[in-house]
Amino acid sequence: MAELKHFLDIDRLDSKTLRQILDLAARLKKAQLAGKSKPLFAGKTLVMIFEKPSTRTRVSFQVGMQQLGGQVVVMSEQESHLGRGETIADTARVLSRYADAIMIRTDDTAKLDDLEAYASVPVINGLTDYSHPCQIMADVMTFEEHRGPIEGKVVAWSGDGNNVANSWIHAAVRFGFTLKLACPDTLRPDAKILQWATSEGGDILVTGDAGEAVDGADLVNADTWVSMGDADADERRRVLAPYQVNQDLMAGAKPDALFMHCLPAHRGDEVTDEVMDGPHSVIWDEAENRLHAQKGILAWCLG
Ligand code: CP
Ligand code: NVA
Repeated sequence: MAELKHFLDIDRLDSKTLRQILDLAARLKKAQLAGKSKPLFAGKTLVMIFEKPSTRTRVSFQVGMQQLGGQVVVMSEQESHLGRGETIADTARVLSRYADAIMIRTDDTAKLDDLEAYASVPVINGLTDYSHPCQIMADVMTFEEHRGPIEGKVVAWSGDGNNVANSWIHAAVRFGFTLKLACPDTLRPDAKILQWATSEGGDILVTGDAGEAVDGADLVNADTWVSMGDADADERRRVLAPYQVNQDLMAGAKPDALFMHCLPAHRGDEVTDEVMDGPHSVIWDEAENRLHAQKGILAWCLG
C-alpha cells in the first residue's frame, strides 16, 4: 500500500511538499473565484472530530469539501463514544472504513499520534495544544498574496508562545523566513521546538521585548492570551498586557507591514480595534484562505 499522506505538522513535511500544497491551494482558489471548480472530491468523505470549539476550521473544511463535490461528517467528543471511553485507536479503525480522511481538533497530541498510528486513511491536524498547521499554511498563503515570497522576510509574533506560535516556528524553518517572537518569560515557546529550529538552521529570535520583535517586521501576528483549555486567565492577562498589538507597536514594524490574527480575537486584549480594522490588517483574507489552503491540503492528502 502507498504511504499515507498525513498532514500532521509543518515540520513533518519537506519544503517542496509544503510548496506543492500551497500551489494546489492557489490553483483551487483561482478556479473557485472564476466559478470553474471541478468536483475533485466527488465520492470522498471527510470525518471531522472536534474535542474543542471551532468556527473557522469547521466551516471552512465543510464548505471546502462541498465546493469540490465531497461530503463531511462532523463528530464531537460529547456526542460520540469517544466521550464514553472508546479509544482513539478503535475509533480510527472504524472511521477508516467509512471515510477517506479524518481531521481532528484535540487538546492532546497523543490522540493525533494514535489516529496516525491506527487510521488507514490520511489524518489532518485541525489544532492541538501543541500546533495549528492548517492555520499557518493559510497565513503563509495570505502573506504571499499580498507581499510575494515569504522567504527572507521578517515575521513577528507578540504574545503567548502557544500552539499557533509553534507552527510559525515550524514554518520559519521550512519556508526560510526570520521569525522574532516576543513572549513573557513564563510563556515562551517550548524549548524543544526552539532547539529543533536551531538544529535545522532556522533564524528565530525569542525576546521579552515586543518592540524588538516587531522592529523591521514585514508581518506582525497576535493571538488570544487565553487559548482553549488554559486555566490561568487572570495571570495570563497580567503578564501579557505589555505584548498587546496596538498602533504604537505596529509603528515599530515596516511602514507596509501586514497584521494577522488567526481569530477568534479578543479586541482590547491582545489587539486593539485600530489594528484589527486598520490599514495593516489582512485578517479577513487570512480567514478566507483557511478555505483555500485546506483544499490544497485535502487535495494533497487525497491524492
Ligand atoms: N483560527 C481558527 O482555527 O479558528 P476556529 O477556532 O474558529 O476554528
Ligand atoms: N491559540 C488559540 C488558537 C485558536 C484558533 C487556541 O488554541 O485557543
